[in-house]
Order: sequence, then structure tokens, then C-alpha cells
Amino acid sequence: ANRLTPLVAGNWKMNGLRADLAQVAAIRDAVAAGAVAGAEILVCPPATLLAAAAQLCAGTPVAIGGQDCSPDAYGAHTGDISAEMLKDAGASYVIVGHSERRIDHGESDARVAAKAAAALRAGLKVILCVGETEAERTAGQAEARVAAQLEQSLPPEQAAAGRLAVAYEPVWAIGTGVTPSPRDVVAMHGFLRQRLKTLLTDGEVVRLLYGGSVKPGNAAELLRSPDVNGALVGGASLKAAEFLAIAKAVS
Ligand code: G3P
Repeated sequence: ANRLTPLVAGNWKMNGLRADLAQVAAIRDAVAAGAVAGAEILVCPPATLLAAAAQLCAGTPVAIGGQDCSPDAYGAHTGDISAEMLKDAGASYVIVGHSERRIDHGESDARVAAKAAAALRAGLKVILCVGETEAERTAGQAEARVAAQLEQSLPPEQAAAGRLAVAYEPVWAIGTGVTPSPRDVVAMHGFLRQRLKTLLTDGEVVRLLYGGSVKPGNAAELLRSPDVNGALVGGASLKAAEFLAIAKAVS
């Protein structure tokens, strides 16, 4: 099989003020200088910084994405942001189904699937997140849990595999400094690849990202496997130098 171009995505979550746009500019300049040739680089800042970040990166290989979108295109949904608005502000990607959205906002698989579908309709690429909790892993239900999440959160659009990435983020590894072993990552990604091939005609072109406590020091061993096609990075994406070090480890 052809190697998929790795995607290294930074999810800033609820972090970042205008002064932090300097980090976006630093990432852009390093990428433009060829520092991470071989990987696609994406930064997902908070919505307040999205348009400015997109302006900084316009015409460069650095993509900008949203962290969530509404399943609706417009309307009476105070505080929500539609996929079309993200696109209009300069985003080319959006993350949907992050565990923090699922847990903090009670988002169901069906709602995540509707968000992914709305994003694809608006012309965005989608990073769909799945991952088991610690209790589910301890109970031996990790694979069953992510399989169910994947199946029920996938958008119905079959043709969209090329615009879809799936991020495996075990909830217990997010922001904890604890990661699965490289073997466990490979096993789960292999399992997800098989599921994707069963569920989608083009399942082999969906990039499978790992997320959860990825740092410069563990990126190479966690991410250098054929079934791991990149990373979704939280805390370590806030500083350009750390994020670029991770990107270099996979590119
Ligand atoms: O979406 C990325 C994320 O949940 C991982 O966060 O801080 O553990 O890298 P972190």
C-alpha cells in the first residue's frame, strides 16, 4: 500500500490569545523553509484566533482548522459556529467528536456524525476523534468501544474517505503524560484500519492519527508505524518549537 502523507495537527483547545499568533507565524516560517517536508501541518486555534491564523498562513502549506462545528449550516443556535463559517474564516479542517466535547457537552455519536456530515458538505476536511476511557480499557472493552464510536460517528458520505482522518485518542492519555505502549497503539490502529476498510469503500486512504500526551520525546516511537499516519497534539502544540519537533519526528 502507498504510504499516506502524515498529518500532524495541533489542537490548542481553549488556549491562546492574540499574542500567541506569533507561534502560528513561527510554525508557518519553519514549514515554508522546509523544516518538516513530508508531513502535512495543521493548527486548530480557538475560534477567536481562527481568521487571523488563517490570514497568517494563507498561501503557505500550513492548514488551519476549527475544533468543533454545528451540525446546522446557520440559524438560531446561540454561541455555535457552523462549518460554513469556519470555511469562510479560512479553515480547511475541523475536529469533531473530541472526547472533551463528548464529555463536557454530552455529544452523542449521532450528533458527531451530523457534525462530520455538515463539515464535509461545507467543503472542510474532518478529523473524527474516538477513544476509550480508562475504565473501558481495564474492562477489556477498548476495541469494542472505539469500534462502536467509529461506526456510529462516521458521516454517511461514503465518497468522503479522502477528506476524512480518524484520531485515536484514549481518554486516559489526554493531558496526563501517560501513553499507551507503541505496541498498543499499533494494535488499535491496525484494528481501526480493518474496521474502516469494512465500513468504507476507500477505508485504506483514511489517515489514522494518534492523540494523547504526544511530546517531542515520545513522538518517534509512538508514531513511526505504518498504521499511524500522524498525530493530534494538544499541550505540546502550543509552542512552535515543541510542535515542530514532533512534526519532524514523523516527517
Ligand atoms: O486533541 C489532542 C488532545 O486531546 C491530546 O492532548 O495535551 O494530551 O496532547 P494532549
